[in-house]
Amino acid sequence: MKLIPFVSIFVALAGCNLRTAQGAGRNGAFIGYHESEARREVTLAAQPKPGPFRVKISSSYGEFIIKLRPDLAPDTCTLVWELAQKGNCPACKFYRHEPVPMDWGRDGFWGPPYALLQGSLADLAREPPFENQGNSVKIRKGDICMIPNCKEFFIATADHPEWGHSHTIWGEVEDLSAEPNYPFEPFHSNTHDNITTRWLDNTYAFNLTAIEPVPLDTGSGSGTGARLLLNNAT
Ligand SMILES: *[C@@H]1O[C@H](CO)[C@@H](O)[C@H](O)[C@H]1NC(C)=O
Ligand SMILES: *[C@@H]1O[C@H](CO)[C@@H](O)[C@H](O)[C@H]1NC(C)=O
Repeated sequence: MKLIPFVSIFVALAGCNLRTAQGAGRNGAFIGYHESEARREVTLAAQPKPGPFRVKISSSYGEFIIKLRPDLAPDTCTLVWELAQKGNCPACKFYRHEPVPMDWGRDGFWGPPYALLQGSLADLAREPPFENQGNSVKIRKGDICMIPNCKEFFIATADHPEWGHSHTIWGEVEDLSAEPNYPFEPFHSNTHDNITTRWLDNTYAFNLTAIEPVPLDTGSGSGTGARLLLNNAT
């Protein structure tokens, strides 16, 4: 089929972007390559593909390893990756942590409380755009999402089908076991339009760091790298 040559070109690009970026910033890792670069780098087709890009949120309460989803949100992932590479995020903090209530999802009950851990990535270079609007993805437990038109994000601690596509999903937390260690209280409530939300009285700083991707074995074209760049091609 006609698609196949494109697939191999884009797989190659995933690999070469990674390599090019290893010394000097990875701005091109997710987006922003040019056609001319693509041609120049096709010769690297035999290089191993990169594994998934991951970042880590950490504090004394525990850590979250997050697999980025540039296939869903390339611009957001690029911004997060750039910040994570700096490794310096003085304004990164959590400030809202709502538990998962009993009977979540039963008979249309979706809170309150609202089953999330929310915080700020205020050090992002700019506000990420609202992405993956056209996809039929629903927010599932462990997804990490940006709230549109700001630099605030949350980790879903339960499935959130009731929210539809109102947020940008940009990653998946691989292991949520640290989440209950993050404080749920003290908090205060705020009611607006009959919706009561919980806000922590204190904020809890975290660090955001980048985890270098490990190249995968060469082989089938189904790796994240392929998905990532195929997505860009559309
Ligand atoms: C972030 O990392 C720095 C340097 O390793 C460390 O001193 C600081 O305590 C960390 N902050 C948090 C919130 O864990
Ligand atoms: C809030 O809830 C009450 C009782 O369920 C209802 O009567 C009222 O119309 C609601 N107000 C708004 C703004 O939705």
